[in-house]
Amino acid sequence: MNLEQLSQAIEEERKVCLEEIKEVDNIDKLNLFKGKHIGKKSLLTELFASMRNVDANDKKEYGKMLTSFREEVNSLFVNKEKELADKKLLEKINNEKVDITLPPYSLPLGSYHPLTLITEEMVSFFKGLGFEVASGPEVETERNNFELVNIPSDHPSRDMQDSFVVDKGIVLRSHTSAVQSRVMQSANGQSPIKIICPGKVYRRDSDATHSHQFEQMEGLVISSDATFANLLELLTKVLRHLFGEKREVRFRPSYFPFTEPSIEADISCFECNGKGCSLCKHTGWIEILGAGMVHPNVLRLNGYDDNKVQGFAFGIGIDRVAMLKYGIDDIKRFYLDDVRFLRQFKKE
Ligand code: DAH
Repeated sequence: MNLEQLSQAIEEERKVCLEEIKEVDNIDKLNLFKGKHIGKKSLLTELFASMRNVDANDKKEYGKMLTSFREEVNSLFVNKEKELADKKLLEKINNEKVDITLPPYSLPLGSYHPLTLITEEMVSFFKGLGFEVASGPEVETERNNFELVNIPSDHPSRDMQDSFVVDKGIVLRSHTSAVQSRVMQSANGQSPIKIICPGKVYRRDSDATHSHQFEQMEGLVISSDATFANLLELLTKVLRHLFGEKREVRFRPSYFPFTEPSIEADISCFECNGKGCSLCKHTGWIEILGAGMVHPNVLRLNGYDDNKVQGFAFGIGIDRVAMLKYGIDDIKRFYLDDVRFLRQFKKE
């Protein structure tokens, strides 16, 4: 075979290969293709074998043409092999694909308890003014709950009927004021102190606005220069923050054993704006908290020199704030775990 004949034979074989490789769509067909066009019995192998009969001058060119054609057929094979492998992988991926358009399992979302919402709002307000959050146990000594905050033994709140007695000298704390003495005792005579303490308290009490368990937030500031004016300003600020900047705040003289002087704060009724309605019992005002200057006895009982430091304290009923803010008619609703009620409260 001379070079021209070889060129023709290659050209024809190329056409056949190109046609056939197009039809190959699986590995079996690809193997058949290989056997037929590259394998021992292929035309290509035959042509290589015929080289020995080729004229010596043409041998080099003959070999070159054949080698280059062999590379061509090989790459047809290799490319198809890769194409088939890719196709197989893609099929596999497609079969395993997660359908992200499927609707997800719905997890029921909870909501914040109204008392938590109010507590968080107050805590963040006071933290913004540099108060720290203190805590104390709900099972408390009578000493912390009563004696150290100057509540004498004949005070009505010490009556067994009013506070829950756990054991001799141990009660469920009847107010967060119990934390006052804990904080002062652990400060070891140091000042300033600037804390709030939200938490549960317990009393034997039950009607639409009283429950045996409720929540309070205590506040205590002790320093050399904490004044009554500071207290009034602070209370006005927190009450306006909670009930609206337009609220009037008024202070009345009152009595608490742990403060002297003692006051109670009222806000102008936000329902009727002071005109008088059932919410404010037709007085135009709503009672909201108790406060006062820390009684010198309380300072002394807890390791402070009442000539050197003074302070003020306040106690706010969290349930009461929540009832007023959300228009809730019965305090028991906070404690009955009725999801229809609880679902209505959203974080703003
Ligand atoms: N402990 C009082 C109560 O439970 C509330 C209170 C009033 C706390 C005046 C105070 C205060 O710190 O100064 O009714």
